[in-house]
Amino acid sequence: MLPETYINEVEKRLRRAGRPREIIIDVMLEVQQFYGWFSDEALEQTARLLKMNPLEIEELATFYNYIYRQPVGKHVIHVCDSVICWMSEGYASFVEHMQEKLGIQMGQTTDDGMFTLLPVCCLGYCDLAPALMINQRVYGHLTAEKFDQIIEDLRREK
Ligand code: FES
Repeated sequence: MLPETYINEVEKRLRRAGRPREIIIDVMLEVQQFYGWFSDEALEQTARLLKMNPLEIEELATFYNYIYRQPVGKHVIHVCDSVICWMSEGYASFVEHMQEKLGIQMGQTTDDGMFTLLPVCCLGYCDLAPALMINQRVYGHLTAEKFDQIIEDLRREK
């Protein structure tokens, strides 16, 4: 259950915003952060909080790449699978390496719940291709070695 203080804060923001749509993505992301993913329960609570129809929230939740309607790992690795990254040298073997290193395929989560691999459309960092994003941080000019280092650093952080 969302904390009472958070519910009060959203109600205040809602009064200031006037229209729920102005704050909906922020609220969806915050609720998701609280639960770890955007479950049906999280969706219903968000709809109640914003006084919106759950179907409207569902439409946005399934459209927006960074809202997870299924459980994900602690760190979600958004791997760009758009054209500039595809065309970068070694992209296919790099993707293969990521999957091997983590022991999962795209769309899956490691057994320890630490990492989920998800393909996404262009991250807007084509000059850094191949690129990926983890916890809102973009990593570019990736190689197998750089990827291994990123994973080790994140594992150390726990
Ligand atoms: S195509 Fe990969 S970041 Fe743009």
